[in-house]
Amino acid sequence: MKRIALLGATGSIGRQAIEIVEAHPGLELCAAASGSSPLDDVDAPLKQVGGDLTELLERAQPDVVLNAVVGFAGIHATLWALERGIDLALANKESLVAGGELALAARARGGGRLLPVDSEHSALFQLLEGRGPDQVHSLVITGSGGPFRGRSREELSDVTVEQALAHPTWRMGPKITVDSATLANKGLELIEAHFLFSIPYDRIEVVLQPTSIVHSLIRLRDGATLAHLGHPDMRVPISYALTYPERAETPLAPLDFASLTLQFSAPATGTFPLLALAREAGEKGGTYPCVFNAANEVAVAAFLAGRLPFLAIADAVADALEHSDGASARDVEELLEADAAARRLVEQGLSVA
Ligand SMILES: NC(=O)c1ccc[n+]([C@@H]2O[C@H](COP(=O)([O-])OP(=O)(O)OC[C@H]3O[C@@H](n4cnc5c(N)ncnc54)[C@H](OP(=O)(O)O)[C@@H]3O)[C@@H](O)[C@H]2O)c1
Repeated sequence: MKRIALLGATGSIGRQAIEIVEAHPGLELCAAASGSSPLDDVDAPLKQVGGDLTELLERAQPDVVLNAVVGFAGIHATLWALERGIDLALANKESLVAGGELALAARARGGGRLLPVDSEHSALFQLLEGRGPDQVHSLVITGSGGPFRGRSREELSDVTVEQALAHPTWRMGPKITVDSATLANKGLELIEAHFLFSIPYDRIEVVLQPTSIVHSLIRLRDGATLAHLGHPDMRVPISYALTYPERAETPLAPLDFASLTLQFSAPATGTFPLLALAREAGEKGGTYPCVFNAANEVAVAAFLAGRLPFLAIADAVADALEHSDGASARDVEELLEADAAARRLVEQGLSVA
């Protein structure tokens, strides 16, 4: 029996994870946490609403931590699991983006497994498994392009929150859905892939595949390209991370290839500048990815609250990156400082505007 601590149990990933755990006799929830929503309908012996997630993890001593918290708030749980060599099923990409260097150092000390839940990274993980780095030419991360694919900047100037939340292929929480609309999500995923698979940025490409059937691809040195295909349904990568290295049945119908058309296109980086800003932040390293993430979180929250226009999200992130020195964080305190400073900067801009 694998004992799972589910952090973010009330969210989109959290709910789907509960479905997977309930359907699998080899999995059980030993702990569940949310930020502020009640957990009355979640069946777990230990539950916590708000507060320090690592206290809950200390009490639960799980076999697997499924970190499905949204945002940088997930950082302590990520580091806690990696430091102790406890399997980490990671949906909370923000913690790896912001704290990638510290997280990898913690994993090297703890020796545990980092199992990606993000569908693209789950796909890449499966494609890369058992392959030496010398076989791999490059990674190709796919994205749907979000609800505004094909629009010009002029057409994006007055888009509403409701329009940004209408994702064409995935049903997700509000923050990642806005990130998908701005392409910040692909930027975060680029940095996430760099840290997960130790591949330099110039060998990670992003391409759009609007129906989200191809979850990612790898190019091999000999010219072959391998792709991972499936329905856009997070239950598959969640199930894979929780049952790894086994595979459990999920209630999904097989893909019907006779009805599929697969088209690919390049992302419009001029219209959606956050993807290029993320690449630049990742390449510069240090705390630049942390600043990118923090500024984006504050700006997205402001957009969702009606305080900031859609196009100003990227402006706020660019401004925060410009005003940061990006100095590496030697420990988690320094990382928290870099995160807080970037948040303050964006908040100041918001209160002036
Ligand atoms: N949804 C997807 O399909 C998908 C796909 C790939 C990756 N991801 C990643 O998975 C993560 C979760 O996304 P989501 O779409 O499931 O988000 P969501 O629906 O907004 O859910 C977020 C969850 O995090 C909890 N939470 C927020 N702050 C917390 C805190 N300080 N302490 C403890 N719990 C906290 C929320 O609790 P409350 O309900 O109390 O606020 C909620 O349970 C994100 O990092 C996202 O990028 C999601």
